[in-house]
Amino acid sequence: MKFFVDTAEIDQIKELHELGMVDGVTTNPSLIAKSGRDILEVTKEICDIVDGPVSAEVVALDADTMLAEGRKLAKIAPNIAVKVPLTWAGLQTCKALSDEGTMVNVTLCFSANQALLAAKAGATFISPFIGRLDDLNLDGLELIEDIRTIYDNYGFETQILAASIRSANHMSDCAKIGADVATAPPAVIKAMANHVLTDKGLAGFMADVEKAGIKIL
Ligand code: E4P
Repeated sequence: MKFFVDTAEIDQIKELHELGMVDGVTTNPSLIAKSGRDILEVTKEICDIVDGPVSAEVVALDADTMLAEGRKLAKIAPNIAVKVPLTWAGLQTCKALSDEGTMVNVTLCFSANQALLAAKAGATFISPFIGRLDDLNLDGLELIEDIRTIYDNYGFETQILAASIRSANHMSDCAKIGADVATAPPAVIKAMANHVLTDKGLAGFMADVEKAGIKIL
């Protein structure tokens, strides 16, 4: 499973990228607003760091303006994936941009039917939002499973990009189901390293290092 990092914070992208943890980046208007940076400027900076797909989201609601925005975003770098919402206008924009050879990430997906439409419209990525479904006591992981089944049934090449990930467990659950990509905030990716038994075991080893005066350097 590929790891995308869900942030527009340059320092955090650099830190994870140096460890080989970043196969791509996703942003959205809320993350751009949080960064306080100009969308074109910060997106270009991210594309200069990361070779993999960098999602940048359109902000218009109608297809013509979305398409113009998407074309402008696509000019930033060859690894831009234009992110469009899963609306009818978003699907129209997805088809047009895909036909032009631009990667498209269709976002705000909350149903298997929406994912089916995105694949038909030529999406490179579909972004089902796990956490926001879980927040409503619905089952976000079940949606990932359903989309996996449907895409495999018909050989759709659209990649399942599990999004709105809130916990380290979401990451392993998505990997077990067979999501192609998961995008998570840096804190969630770092939390994947944590285990209480690792901490406990290390504390025991350190106590013995102290007791025996073990030195390597
Ligand atoms: C990624 O593409 C999404 O924009 C992001 O994962 C949404 O996450 P949230 O539901 O935590 O805002």
